[in-house]
Amino acid sequence: MPEIKITHSNQSRISEVDFNNIPFGRICTDHMASADFIDGKWTNFEIRPVEPLSLHPTNMTLHYGQAIFEGMKASKAVDGTPMLMRPELHAQRFNASAVRMCMPEFPEDMFVDMIYKLVSIDRAWIPPISGSSMYIRPFMIAMDENVGVRASSNYKFMVLTLPAGPYYGRPISLTTSTEHVRAVDGGVGEAKCAGNYAASLYPATLANKRGFDQVLWLDAHEFKYIQEVGTMNIFFVIGNKVITPATSGSILKGITRRNMIEILKVEKGIEVEERALSIDEVMAAHADGTLKEVFGSGTAALVANVNRIAHDGNVMELDPDNFEISLYLKAKINGLRDGTIEDTYGWMTPITEAVMA
Ligand code: COI
Repeated sequence: MPEIKITHSNQSRISEVDFNNIPFGRICTDHMASADFIDGKWTNFEIRPVEPLSLHPTNMTLHYGQAIFEGMKASKAVDGTPMLMRPELHAQRFNASAVRMCMPEFPEDMFVDMIYKLVSIDRAWIPPISGSSMYIRPFMIAMDENVGVRASSNYKFMVLTLPAGPYYGRPISLTTSTEHVRAVDGGVGEAKCAGNYAASLYPATLANKRGFDQVLWLDAHEFKYIQEVGTMNIFFVIGNKVITPATSGSILKGITRRNMIEILKVEKGIEVEERALSIDEVMAAHADGTLKEVFGSGTAALVANVNRIAHDGNVMELDPDNFEISLYLKAKINGLRDGTIEDTYGWMTPITEAVMA
């Protein structure tokens, strides 16, 4: 593997951070990782102190949005060992996004290795508080300077790390939209690309004005089938079944979603139904009392309970205090992350002394 040039910061900023009160996404650790795609190959693998980027105003990302990212977390086991959860799945999904956005794939072993080393260097920043963690944000942007529309030839890969508390500190409310959509079949809904999030902001603002936290996206043909929440995939417990929309091309293939499906199958013997789920089916289940739980899953959000869903003039109220499956999943994933639950899945990757050296 290519060597990573490491430059340490002279002065850590860690003493400025109140780990009991961490605003999500605003405080970076001391170091960042980067690499450049130049002349058809990845080069300049580096870890160095966080600093601003200098971009020419014709930088293509600024105009045409070739930008993708990942969201991962590092936790600390009770014995202090930093750990990553399934980093290789994030590397694979990053490359799937890259292919869809006509960007070069990043070598998966380097993706994992750079993150190992970066987390290792800034391991003191992983909050020593259960439920908190270090959020890891790998991303790639176009670097050509050209306002003509085409795929860029040069790219920059970077990784930022940020200490993070819970993303949603309380249950959230959702509303469907029958005016706007997040993704269409054949579009980019499955890619973790910046534009998907930009497109969600205006409808989310409208939802906020009506008193809801997020939009529960419906399909773009009939405004009928549930997709996801944008920051999360979504699960419904109806009767004794757990149902989540199938990732059929316009929904992000959530890694926390996948973990939760595997945990439910192995530990609870529950086969999760991944299928088309209409909002009408959910409303009917609410009306007949069989809708027991609704919760989202995501790297940042982990497991976020939903207490209200509005659709077409109707409001469904739920009581997260009675949710059992979401509580189980949250405790399980937090337990795997802090090492208090044995990792029988082999998902956790400890950052060992050898890597730290
Ligand atoms: C994540 O869960 O990592 C996400 O990417 C969602 C959001 C913070 C953009």
